[in-house]
Amino acid sequence: MIKVMVIHGPNLDLLGEREPEIYGSCSLADINAAIAAEAKLLGLEVRCEQSNSEGGIIDLIHEARTWANAIIINPAGYTHTSVAIYDALRAVRMPAIEVHLSNVAARPEEFRHRSLTGAACVGMIAGFHTASYTLALRAVKHLADQAQL
Ligand code: DQA
Repeated sequence: MIKVMVIHGPNLDLLGEREPEIYGSCSLADINAAIAAEAKLLGLEVRCEQSNSEGGIIDLIHEARTWANAIIINPAGYTHTSVAIYDALRAVRMPAIEVHLSNVAARPEEFRHRSLTGAACVGMIAGFHTASYTLALRAVKHLADQAQL
C-alpha cells in the first residue's frame, strides 16, 4: 500500500479560528478527518502531523524517508522563506506535493507569490481549502498509477 506523510506547518493548528475568511472555518482535526476519509477511499495509508517550527518540519520530512512513498506538505509561512525545508525535501528524494488552503498567487501580499519550497515539489495545489489536501491525495494516487512512486 502507498504510504503518504501529510505535514502541516506553523499556525495551521489554529485553523477554524485563524482568519476564517481566508482559510475557511474547518479546524485542523476536520481537515485531518477529510484526509483520512479520502485516503481510505483511494486505498492509501496516511499519517498527518503538524509542527510550528522549521526544525520540526524538517525532522518530519526526514522521518517520512523511513516509511512513506510520498509527502503532502503545507509549509505555511515557511513556504516563502525556508531554504532548509527546500533542502530537506530534495534530500529525501521522494515525490512531494505542496498544498495551500488559500490561492497564494491571488493574495495581496507580494511575499506570498513566491514559493521556495514548491521548487522542490512535483506540483502544487492551492486555493481549494480542505479540498486542496484531498486533491493532493488524488495526485499521489495518479503518480502511483503512472508508476512514478
Ligand atoms: C498558507 C498560505 C501561506 O502564505 C500562509 O503563511 C499560511 C497558510 C495556506 O495554506 O494558504 O500560513 O500556506
